[in-house]
Amino acid sequence: METIKLVIDGKQVETERGTTLLGAARKAGVDIPTLCHDDRLAPYGACRLCLVEIEKNGRKRLVASCAYLAEDGLTVRTETEKIRKLRRMILELLLAESSTGPLESLAKKYGLEESRFEIERPKCILCGLCVRYCAEVKKKNVTCFIGRGIDKEVVFLSDFSNSECPMCRECLPLCPSGTLYSLYLKGFSGKPETPPKKNI
Ligand code: FES
Repeated sequence: METIKLVIDGKQVETERGTTLLGAARKAGVDIPTLCHDDRLAPYGACRLCLVEIEKNGRKRLVASCAYLAEDGLTVRTETEKIRKLRRMILELLLAESSTGPLESLAKKYGLEESRFEIERPKCILCGLCVRYCAEVKKKNVTCFIGRGIDKEVVFLSDFSNSECPMCRECLPLCPSGTLYSLYLKGFSGKPETPPKKNI
């Protein structure tokens, strides 16, 4: 396997060609926050929280590290002032949808105790983890997106969820906004006895 060399936050990193920047950073012990990434799924690039700055031949730009492949000779910065500001802004917008679970912990890490916007009730942030997990890992497609734009939402297809979900429920702990479990209960006729444990 061909290897490439790059610099991440001042560290010399050697990794296999085809590795994402996120993968290379994690391998080097550099933490980059994510909300829509899962190692078992194809990159999705929805939340943009994993933005990093890359520099090559004197040119700098921001890329989503979960989807961008590491390149030879690249310099990567994962926590500049500009990136921190962008992450704070993204988190604050997401906090207006929900303030539970991993989203809440990340917001605290970036110094946000609460959003300036009022939350009427927690909403799905459309990261797609549940939909993609069900399709890519479980090969079931019981959870899916419906609608477009502001009407886009996640649903459990009830014809299948009653037979498939009670034995699985593996998507529930993946939800960073903490809204999937109530959605699951809403569309499910036989309620499970206990909520699933968070594994994030
Ligand atoms: S983790 Fe990269 S865009 Fe969400």
